[in-house]
Amino acid sequence: MAKLRKKARGAKQISPAKIVADEARYMMQTYRRPGVVFTHGRGTHLYDSHGREYLDFLAGIAVNALGYANPRIVRVIRREAGRTMHVSNLFHNPYQAPLARKLAEWSGLDRAFFANSGSEAVEGALKLARAHAHARAGSGGRQTRILALENSFHGRTFGALSITYPEKYREPFEPLVPGVEFVRFNDMADLEAKFDETVCAIIVEPIQGEGGIHLVSDEFWQRARELATQHDAALIADEIQAGLGRTGRRFAYQRFSLPPDIVTVAKPLGSGLPLGAFLASDEFASAFKPGLHGSTFGGGPLVCAAALEFLSVVEEKDLLANVRERGTEIRAGLKKLATRFDFIREIRGEGLIVGIDLSIEGGPLVKDALRRGLLINCTHEHILRLLPPFIISRRDVSEFFSKFERVLAGAAKSARPSAAAYDAKASAQPMALAAAR
Ligand SMILES: Cc1ncc(COP(=O)(O)O)c(C=O)c1O
Repeated sequence: MAKLRKKARGAKQISPAKIVADEARYMMQTYRRPGVVFTHGRGTHLYDSHGREYLDFLAGIAVNALGYANPRIVRVIRREAGRTMHVSNLFHNPYQAPLARKLAEWSGLDRAFFANSGSEAVEGALKLARAHAHARAGSGGRQTRILALENSFHGRTFGALSITYPEKYREPFEPLVPGVEFVRFNDMADLEAKFDETVCAIIVEPIQGEGGIHLVSDEFWQRARELATQHDAALIADEIQAGLGRTGRRFAYQRFSLPPDIVTVAKPLGSGLPLGAFLASDEFASAFKPGLHGSTFGGGPLVCAAALEFLSVVEEKDLLANVRERGTEIRAGLKKLATRFDFIREIRGEGLIVGIDLSIEGGPLVKDALRRGLLINCTHEHILRLLPPFIISRRDVSEFFSKFERVLAGAAKSARPSAAAYDAKASAQPMALAAAR
């Protein structure tokens, strides 16, 4: 026992430099990481191995909606870890059905299937749409095509990758799943031209996340809904990044008047534990019979208990109101900054999913933000993305602006030889920080 304890202590003492070196030597090099090792977090802040503090406006890519070390989540995980972490889906567990019921209440759909990640939820949703089409009398097996949108991101597994738009993700792994076509974003004529009786599903992110925070228009959604109904195809909403409260609504599609048939969720659901799900109306869900789909780990007791607690915290603390209020403050502050920094082209988003579209490269700004103790992210080379936890306070918003303004000022200086012109413009404008308060 003493030996074990010593070993565990030893593991903790590995130096950050050694961790970074071992990553470079022993891990497949699929990520480009800065040399920071995060050791713990509390609320909206993370701490690295040197004890430096960072304001986290990325939340583990939209996962840590309750921030770090939320006492209620920690309590539930500790409790369940001491009971059963896993029993398999051959048996009932106390939390899976209550979680399915809760998600049905939140979404207005009827049934859930639990998986382990976003990509896996997308795979299941596609399989369900195909199974539904095959089960329909008279489809003659021809109703197999899947429509997705240009600029989409749905995941890295083969099915999810096949409906993900950027070629850089797809091409190295071809051939992919056949029968996929991409519709131009918000283009009704293209949608109508590509949607016919051979389509079994159209998948839409109501707000494109990785694609750069673009909102699907009401008209486009409405027409996709009509065409899906007309052809008995599934309208699938991929809510993995924008769903479960991030827009200030339970689901991003709830800003439209009509619902989808199938919804995928993941990221914040397990409060940091891996959990994905797809939800469906009875009409579509009934296409799955025992044995048609399954998962060893999906929806285990530990992770479902954590997910139930997450949804309760969001409800009891009225976090959707906080998401809306802080999101409005952030976008207003950013719009003020855009009047001073002309390389900010546009501010987009809803609630706490925010895109800052730049006319310059975003990567250096992300690096500078990290240096200043602020975590943000960049997508499509020039769109800064903010995905802060739902629990951020007005103080956190002020801290964000005081750091981010310096990042922008630094970028302005290096983007322009004539810093004097920028400085003159800056001094003529009120501080965005004050505006954001
Ligand atoms: C909209 C959307 N769908 C699917 C995925 C894939 O999820 P995961 O990385 O959990 O497989 C992501 C991940 O970023 C996403 O944003």
